[in-house]
Amino acid sequence: MKFRRWFLAGLAGLFAAGAFAQSDWPARPITLVVPFAAGGPTDVVARTLGASMTKSLGQTVVVENKLGAGGTIAAGYVARATPDGYTFFIHHNGMATSTALYRKLSYNALADFEYVSQAVEVPMTLLARKDFPASNLSELVAYVKANQAKINLANAGLGAVSQLCGLLLERELGVKLTAVPFQGTAPAMNALLAGQVDVLCDQTTQTIPQIKAGNVKFYGVTTKNRIKALPDAPTLDEQGLKGFELVVWHGIYAPKGTPKPVLDKMNQAVRAALKDPAVIQRMADLGAEIVPDSKLTPESLQVWLKSEIDKWGPIIKSTGTFAD
Ligand code: MLT
Repeated sequence: MKFRRWFLAGLAGLFAAGAFAQSDWPARPITLVVPFAAGGPTDVVARTLGASMTKSLGQTVVVENKLGAGGTIAAGYVARATPDGYTFFIHHNGMATSTALYRKLSYNALADFEYVSQAVEVPMTLLARKDFPASNLSELVAYVKANQAKINLANAGLGAVSQLCGLLLERELGVKLTAVPFQGTAPAMNALLAGQVDVLCDQTTQTIPQIKAGNVKFYGVTTKNRIKALPDAPTLDEQGLKGFELVVWHGIYAPKGTPKPVLDKMNQAVRAALKDPAVIQRMADLGAEIVPDSKLTPESLQVWLKSEIDKWGPIIKSTGTFAD
């Protein structure tokens, strides 16, 4: 009897502590894990949102870059993190494509996470080093077909959108280039600017300043329609690569088991950040679109991720690209 009373009192105490912890959340800084290098496209989105969320949450959102294996090291790290409301994860299409690219992953993309929200969508741009011998897309296509493996195609590893874009390009042109992986497109861009690699397909969140400064050769955008941030830039589709379309979408996740009240508050903080004029301006300058309200629910992110796994899985498998 004594034990039962003691056990029930202990249980009530635990619940009270949990409830208090959740109503008090966040009581300390929150970590937002970015799966690629600092200064790159995902990092820019994370830090822009993080700075705004810091204001609305009253606690610092600390961006932590966990690099390696095209974002899968970070995903595994977050999947195993304590679900206490202090670790979150921002990732893009790679959350879906990695499930087809890797024979073994240390996590299950659909089962091991809680969903917070989508955030922004980002176009990609096809670039080459400034002195690359192709001045427009048709010259690039001809050069690539003639030189194939001699051409170094930079990417951020299997699971990166730069890798997916390269894969789609190779598939479309029926060529195989030499992939040069980096731990993010920030170092890949540095290599392109230094003339150490030839071609890079990368997000406008990083490439617009380099395009505007004329530091790279620029062949077009990967969206279906032209984009506001680069209105004169043609799409790859309109230049003959019919149906070539790739838009980068970002989702925010937490380890499975993160308390629902915390997820709800984090969702509110993401929504507030996406309405912050400073965020809206920065994203617009970098070509990123804030997603409509219908994409700001945990449920819509879950449904979207599943649809992206179903979409890219067969395409990636048809290319025979995978890592053990
Ligand atoms: C990055 O932040 O470095 C990129 O999102 C990598 C990529 O997916 O290409």
